[in-house]
Amino acid sequence: EEPVMIAIANDHSALEMKKEIMSLLDEMGLEYKDFGAYSSESCNYPVFGARAARAVASGECEFGILLCGTGLGIGLAANKIKGIRCVTCSDPLSAELGRRHNNANMLSMGARIIGPELAKCIARAFLTAQFEGGRHALRVEMLSALERGEEIE
Ligand code: RB5
Repeated sequence: EEPVMIAIANDHSALEMKKEIMSLLDEMGLEYKDFGAYSSESCNYPVFGARAARAVASGECEFGILLCGTGLGIGLAANKIKGIRCVTCSDPLSAELGRRHNNANMLSMGARIIGPELAKCIARAFLTAQFEGGRHALRVEMLSALERGEEIE
Protein backbone atom coordinates (compact mmCIF):
# COMPACT_ATOMS: atom_id res chain seq x y z
CA GLU A 1 0.00 0.00 0.00
CA GLU A 2 1.19 3.51 -0.86
CA PRO A 3 2.02 5.68 2.16
CA VAL A 4 -0.38 8.51 2.90
CA MET A 5 1.04 11.60 1.23
CA ILE A 6 0.39 15.05 2.65
CA ALA A 7 0.83 18.26 0.65
CA ILE A 8 2.16 21.20 2.62
CA ALA A 9 2.55 24.82 1.59
CA ASN A 10 3.01 28.19 3.20
CA ASP A 11 3.89 31.78 2.56
CA HIS A 12 6.73 33.81 4.06
CA SER A 13 4.87 34.39 7.33
CA ALA A 14 4.64 30.70 8.20
CA LEU A 15 8.02 29.18 7.41
CA GLU A 16 8.74 28.36 11.06
CA MET A 17 5.30 26.87 11.58
CA LYS A 18 5.81 24.66 8.54
CA LYS A 19 8.91 23.20 10.18
CA GLU A 20 6.85 22.38 13.28
CA ILE A 21 4.18 20.71 11.15
CA MET A 22 6.79 18.73 9.22
CA SER A 23 8.21 17.39 12.49
CA LEU A 24 4.69 16.35 13.55
CA LEU A 25 4.24 14.52 10.23
CA ASP A 26 7.60 12.78 10.78
CA GLU A 27 6.45 11.77 14.26
CA MET A 28 3.17 10.43 12.84
CA GLY A 29 5.02 8.50 10.14
CA LEU A 30 3.31 10.40 7.34
CA GLU A 31 5.06 11.32 4.11
CA TYR A 32 4.79 14.84 2.75
CA LYS A 33 5.58 16.96 -0.25
CA ASP A 34 6.62 20.53 0.45
CA PHE A 35 5.32 22.89 -2.23
CA GLY A 36 7.11 25.93 -0.78
CA ALA A 37 7.63 28.71 -0.05
CA TYR A 38 11.14 27.78 0.98
CA SER A 39 12.31 31.15 2.33
CA SER A 40 10.89 33.97 4.40
CA GLU A 41 11.19 36.40 1.54
CA SER A 42 7.83 38.06 0.85
CA CYS A 43 5.74 36.01 -1.57
CA ASN A 44 2.14 35.56 -2.70
CA TYR A 45 0.06 32.95 -0.86
CA PRO A 46 -2.24 32.07 -3.83
CA VAL A 47 0.73 30.61 -5.72
CA PHE A 48 1.61 28.16 -2.96
CA GLY A 49 -1.96 27.40 -1.92
CA ALA A 50 -2.82 26.51 -5.50
CA ARG A 51 0.25 24.30 -5.98
CA ALA A 52 -0.60 22.17 -2.95
CA ALA A 53 -4.32 22.19 -3.74
CA ARG A 54 -3.71 20.93 -7.28
CA ALA A 55 -1.67 18.06 -5.86
CA VAL A 56 -4.57 17.10 -3.59
CA ALA A 57 -7.19 17.55 -6.33
CA SER A 58 -5.22 15.30 -8.69
CA GLY A 59 -4.81 12.56 -6.08
CA GLU A 60 -1.04 12.97 -5.93
CA CYS A 61 -1.55 13.83 -2.25
CA GLU A 62 -4.39 12.65 -0.05
CA PHE A 63 -4.60 15.67 2.26
CA GLY A 64 -2.99 19.08 2.52
CA ILE A 65 -1.93 21.49 5.22
CA LEU A 66 -1.60 25.17 4.35
CA LEU A 67 -0.12 27.94 6.43
CA CYS A 68 -0.07 31.70 6.03
CA GLY A 69 -0.36 34.65 8.40
CA THR A 70 -4.05 34.12 9.10
CA GLY A 71 -4.65 30.84 7.29
CA LEU A 72 -7.38 32.68 5.42
CA GLY A 73 -5.77 33.76 2.17
CA ILE A 74 -4.06 30.46 1.44
CA GLY A 75 -7.25 28.59 2.36
CA LEU A 76 -9.31 30.77 0.04
CA ALA A 77 -6.84 30.10 -2.76
CA ALA A 78 -7.09 26.34 -2.21
CA ASN A 79 -10.88 26.46 -2.26
CA LYS A 80 -10.80 27.92 -5.77
CA ILE A 81 -9.46 24.61 -7.05
CA LYS A 82 -12.13 22.08 -8.06
CA GLY A 83 -12.42 19.21 -5.63
CA ILE A 84 -10.85 21.05 -2.71
CA ARG A 85 -12.61 21.44 0.61
CA CYS A 86 -10.24 23.45 2.79
CA VAL A 87 -11.19 24.39 6.35
CA THR A 88 -9.40 27.19 8.19
CA CYS A 89 -9.13 26.24 11.84
CA SER A 90 -7.85 27.65 15.10
CA ASP A 91 -9.14 24.82 17.28
CA PRO A 92 -8.89 21.01 17.15
CA LEU A 93 -12.63 20.32 17.31
CA SER A 94 -13.33 22.29 14.12
CA ALA A 95 -10.52 20.41 12.39
CA GLU A 96 -11.88 17.05 13.56
CA LEU A 97 -15.43 17.88 12.50
CA GLY A 98 -14.18 19.29 9.22
CA ARG A 99 -12.99 15.76 8.43
CA ARG A 100 -15.87 13.85 10.04
CA HIS A 101 -18.72 15.91 8.58
CA ASN A 102 -17.40 17.96 5.65
CA ASN A 103 -14.84 15.49 4.33
CA ALA A 104 -12.36 18.36 4.23
CA ASN A 105 -9.24 17.43 2.31
CA MET A 106 -7.19 20.46 3.30
CA LEU A 107 -6.58 22.34 6.52
CA SER A 108 -5.30 25.89 6.73
CA MET A 109 -3.98 27.67 9.81
CA GLY A 110 -2.57 31.09 10.65
CA ALA A 111 0.93 31.46 12.02
CA ARG A 112 0.04 34.95 13.28
CA ILE A 113 -3.11 33.64 14.96
CA ILE A 114 -2.09 30.48 16.82
CA GLY A 115 1.13 29.10 18.28
CA PRO A 116 3.06 26.05 17.08
CA GLU A 117 1.81 23.61 19.74
CA LEU A 118 -1.82 24.42 19.05
CA ALA A 119 -1.17 24.17 15.31
CA LYS A 120 0.26 20.67 15.78
CA CYS A 121 -2.67 19.65 17.95
CA ILE A 122 -5.09 20.89 15.27
CA ALA A 123 -3.18 19.14 12.48
CA ARG A 124 -3.18 15.88 14.44
CA ALA A 125 -6.94 16.16 15.06
CA PHE A 126 -7.48 16.74 11.34
CA LEU A 127 -5.26 13.88 10.20
CA THR A 128 -6.62 11.27 12.60
CA ALA A 129 -10.34 11.90 12.12
CA GLN A 130 -12.31 10.09 9.43
CA PHE A 131 -15.22 11.09 7.26
CA GLU A 132 -18.42 9.59 8.64
CA GLY A 133 -20.34 9.45 5.37
CA GLY A 134 -24.03 8.72 5.91
CA ARG A 135 -26.15 11.88 6.03
CA HIS A 136 -23.02 13.96 5.61
CA ALA A 137 -22.19 12.37 2.26
CA LEU A 138 -25.27 13.87 0.61
CA ARG A 139 -24.32 17.34 1.84
CA VAL A 140 -20.75 17.02 0.65
CA GLU A 141 -22.08 15.83 -2.71
CA MET A 142 -24.22 19.00 -2.77
CA LEU A 143 -21.04 21.04 -2.38
CA SER A 144 -19.65 19.30 -5.45
CA ALA A 145 -22.87 20.03 -7.33
CA LEU A 146 -22.50 23.73 -6.48
CA GLU A 147 -18.95 23.55 -7.78
CA ARG A 148 -20.30 22.18 -11.07
CA GLY A 149 -22.74 25.10 -11.23
CA GLU A 150 -25.80 22.93 -10.60
CA GLU A 151 -28.95 23.84 -8.70
CA ILE A 152 -29.29 21.91 -5.47
CA GLU A 153 -32.75 22.87 -4.19
C1 RB5 B 1 1.01 38.18 4.33
O1 RB5 B 1 1.45 39.35 4.90
C2 RB5 B 1 -0.40 37.85 4.80
O2 RB5 B 1 -1.32 38.70 4.20
C3 RB5 B 1 -0.71 36.42 4.50
O3 RB5 B 1 0.19 35.59 5.15
C4 RB5 B 1 -2.06 35.91 4.94
O4 RB5 B 1 -2.34 36.25 6.26
C5 RB5 B 1 -3.19 36.19 4.04
O5 RB5 B 1 -4.31 35.72 4.24
